[in-house]
Amino acid sequence: MNIFKWSNYFVTGQSRIDDQHKQLVNLLNTFGAYISENKNLESLKGDVKLGKILQELKEYTAYHFREEEVFMANFSVDSRHFTSHMYKHQYFITEINFFIEKDNIEYIDLIELFDFLISWLTTHILGVDMLMIKQYEYIQKGHTPEEAYEKVYNEDCNRSDVLITALKKMVNLLLAKNRKLSILNTELQKKVDQYES
Ligand SMILES: [Fe+2]
Repeated sequence: MNIFKWSNYFVTGQSRIDDQHKQLVNLLNTFGAYISENKNLESLKGDVKLGKILQELKEYTAYHFREEEVFMANFSVDSRHFTSHMYKHQYFITEINFFIEKDNIEYIDLIELFDFLISWLTTHILGVDMLMIKQYEYIQKGHTPEEAYEKVYNEDCNRSDVLITALKKMVNLLLAKNRKLSILNTELQKKVDQYES
């Protein structure tokens, strides 16, 4: 079982955002620890404590995303970044909602869910959140939002950024495939249950 280790690579330098990211990591690890303590994952289906852990994770994530969006609006980030960043937040919220919906939680693989949450958050912080912070820093130095956007997405596109972008694309492709499979699996399992009852 992987545990999400906080790393200095995640530090954006904005203490409010860093504290919230740390709290997200803590909540994720609470979830990870709970499912690894309970070796028989089947026994967790319908578990009240698990439901509470996931609900807290969902609510805190939504709160943190709103905070980031207010932060971006306050420093007038370029609208191209704002739109795509918001879209990524909405995508994640939709995924979490799907996973923890009462009807679906019965059928999902909890370890897969944990791995999904970790990989998504890692690539999100290292990718789009860092790009947001770099733009904030350029704007603080006197650049316009457009200039900051162009600098961050073009001139500053170094090797690690390219790598993260490629990795994110790969993760997103895998997630889209998994999501489709997960929906199919859930629907199939529900039909089997209905048939058997
Ligand atoms: Fe974000």
